Amino acid sequence: MPSDSFKALVLRRPFETIEAAIETLTDDNLPEGDVLVRVHYSDMGYKDGLAITGAGHRQIVESFPFVPGVDFVGIVEESNSDSFKPGDKVIATGWGIGERHWGGYAEKARVKAEWLVPVPTGMTMRQAMTHGSAGLSAMLCINALERYGVAAGSDILVTGATGGVGSVAVMLLHRLGYRVFGATSRAEEEPYLRALGADEIVLAKDIGDIPAQPLLPERWAGAIDNVGGATLANVLASTAYGGAVAALGLVGGTNVQTTVLPFIKRGVALLGVDSEKCPNKTRIAAWKRLAEVIPDGLPASVIEEIGLDALPARAAAIIRGQIRGRTLVAV
Ligand SMILES: NC(=O)c1ccc[n+]([C@@H]2O[C@H](COP(=O)([O-])OP(=O)(O)OC[C@H]3O[C@@H](n4cnc5c(N)ncnc54)[C@H](OP(=O)(O)O)[C@@H]3O)[C@@H](O)[C@H]2O)c1
Repeated sequence: MPSDSFKALVLRRPFETIEAAIETLTDDNLPEGDVLVRVHYSDMGYKDGLAITGAGHRQIVESFPFVPGVDFVGIVEESNSDSFKPGDKVIATGWGIGERHWGGYAEKARVKAEWLVPVPTGMTMRQAMTHGSAGLSAMLCINALERYGVAAGSDILVTGATGGVGSVAVMLLHRLGYRVFGATSRAEEEPYLRALGADEIVLAKDIGDIPAQPLLPERWAGAIDNVGGATLANVLASTAYGGAVAALGLVGGTNVQTTVLPFIKRGVALLGVDSEKCPNKTRIAAWKRLAEVIPDGLPASVIEEIGLDALPARAAAIIRGQIRGRTLVAV
């Protein structure tokens, strides 16, 4: 076996459906890039589930063979960039990694230097991947709400609260002094959400399974929405005068039928949040704030650690909405 060989989860599409298997590759198989990283951890978010299963309204991966994994953290082995040197600990999230460019479900990854940010001071590599794109996005949502004027002490709703983004968002908001409403389809997860800091539990069906309303009673000053669809419409309709909703997810659908009334009668703002192409300056600041607000890392109740071989089954489960919290992948 060549000395530069390593293991990876490789997607192939011999016929209509995607097949995923662990294969042995060498450095020559890796795509172009100026930094070679020895991957220590990756994670699994909803988009990784779509990539591995091929589910969803659009095909996430279009070119095969392909190594998925939107996020990874590891140590630089080789670098042709002045920004990083061997031994540096780096995080990769977004920029098409795991969608158009080979990702983190491999012991090695080669990417562009501008897609990497340093692991923030005080954060371990394991902690960085327990947050992953989910934690980064939750932080970006809170930053967006605060830029709009939503302030600590106010009521904030988090939809899809037991999911990866949702769990980190609940914990961050609680630590920052907000009163947190966790909306979940799983009433039995109330103890989990309360332990993370949720003050009130809202049943997802009471928001998402009612016909979209133009205006509903004002219930929260802000919201972080992972769900989209009718849920987002009703979250907007329930947001108090002058509040804002940070929208980042689509697990409940991409079509949102709403009216202008929340915007023109209550001055509510809809803030779009994207972690994939968000500028490095913004993401480095968000990673730093994550390290400051959760210096001790996420609690064990949020994290399930798996290996590369368990990814296909986990992908199917995340698409079915059966995963709680964050999936850490020990590469
Ligand atoms: N814009 C960005 O930059 C960005 C970054 C990261 C993620 N995202 C998106 O954010 C969303 C959440 O990501 P994630 O990684 O946290 O996913 P996740 O771990 O699968 O969590 C999603 C949660 O939403 C709820 N849910 C699942 N299926 C649902 C359905 N059909 N209808 C309503 N609720 C449903 C479930 O929570 P309950 O059981 O508690 O209801 C589930 O745990 C995804 O759409 C993802 O693509 C966007």
